[in-house]
Amino acid sequence: MKNKIEKRHPKGHVGSESPEPGVSAILESINEPMRYPLNVESYEHLGYEDIPYLRYTSSTFFDAEMDKVWTKVWQWACREENIRNVGDYVVYDIGKYSIIIVRSSPDEIKAFYNSCMHRGTKLKHSYTTGFNDYIACPYHGWSWNLDGSIRDIPNKWDFSHVEDREYKLREVLVDTWGGFVFINMDSEASGLHEYLGETISHFKNWGMDKRYTYIHIQKELPCNWKAAMEAFMENYHTRVVHPQLLITSSGASTQYDLFGDHLSRFIGLTAVPDPDFDRDLSEEEKLETMLVGDASLAADGPKIRDGETARRTMANYLRRYFDETLDVEFDSDLTDSEIIDTIEYTLFPNAFLFPGFSLPMVYRFRPIGNSPDRSLFDLLYLRPIPRSGEFPDSAEPVRIGVNDSYADVPGMDPAMGHVYDQDTDNLDLQQQGFHTADKDGGTMGNYQEIRIRHFHQVLDKYLSM
Ligand code: FES
Ligand SMILES: [Fe+2]
Repeated sequence: MKNKIEKRHPKGHVGSESPEPGVSAILESINEPMRYPLNVESYEHLGYEDIPYLRYTSSTFFDAEMDKVWTKVWQWACREENIRNVGDYVVYDIGKYSIIIVRSSPDEIKAFYNSCMHRGTKLKHSYTTGFNDYIACPYHGWSWNLDGSIRDIPNKWDFSHVEDREYKLREVLVDTWGGFVFINMDSEASGLHEYLGETISHFKNWGMDKRYTYIHIQKELPCNWKAAMEAFMENYHTRVVHPQLLITSSGASTQYDLFGDHLSRFIGLTAVPDPDFDRDLSEEEKLETMLVGDASLAADGPKIRDGETARRTMANYLRRYFDETLDVEFDSDLTDSEIIDTIEYTLFPNAFLFPGFSLPMVYRFRPIGNSPDRSLFDLLYLRPIPRSGEFPDSAEPVRIGVNDSYADVPGMDPAMGHVYDQDTDNLDLQQQGFHTADKDGGTMGNYQEIRIRHFHQVLDKYLSM
């Protein structure tokens, strides 16, 4: 027997062949208000072609991505909170490229290629953060002020041919949005805000700039960066990979949307079972199985009051918890869905932003070094800052290896850690399967895997430029 919601709302997702009830239909059926932008559906059919496996395994393809994508796009490099004080820096690495992002004055951030203007040495170790009054090379001690101008060249008498102004550190474009610092290696690129497009209006009520990082885990994955990303772009895998979530994650009712070249989204509902889950649940059962990214938030155990749904109970509980316990000014217009559901946006090429509060994650996927077979997955949890406006200290990244479990990282909720282990455990097999395949490419579902096809089509636009 199918669940009740589907019987009442046979309408599928707009524009698709999906027979499952869409997010709007489900929320309407339980009288939950929706507002922009969650009430917008934007699906488009984009063809049937397989996605070639060579895109994940070939060094030639990888090099083309380096030359035509990574050096041309705006990409999230760090959070502003990571470089709050003048002199704070973060080294952002993407494939073979390494960029130093530094707060050069209270209202200015600079980004430089991480390479000495003397004989090329990397000025800072990859993936590090820190503080310095000036940037010095560890080899012969050339140094630069935080604005990139030459500070000192030891034995300057030997370099009469060196003009200081020509030996400034080479700059990379830098700009900020939503508390994220973005860089772009293409000095001719159009501005960040143009690149972000609809992202800005979608996020206008969600205050991403008023959040701080309270968990940051970096995991090395034995697969191509795109395969890693794709594991998080659809909910189709949930029935097999996360069977424990079928009871609470909307599964095949999940909504998938495309907004221009650089933005796509899915909305998964919590406390709404997959349409194939064939048992009616009490609101108590739904509440118990709801997914909360940081279970400590719900440790006091919200209780259903008469006539209240599990969703409303959890949303109200979190409203109170943020207000009273975490001293956060919560926007009273936030809908239940904006607080408790899995709302995931992907910003091309590699950033995933969850504006919700129960599941407040940010992901980033990127190649490590020059290998199409290795990638790094950054997982951050953001939390709203308290009313005082003071930013609590931002969590330092914890780097874990291919075989390490998320569940063992201090501060990580074990149940969510288990979900991430389930997600990443398949990726080694998939990358090996790409290499051994007789078939040429992967076949995509028309609806549930549309974001993956869309991503590859945008990638092709960059590669053909
Ligand atoms: S290589 Fe940097 S100072 Fe010589
Ligand atoms: Fe998953």
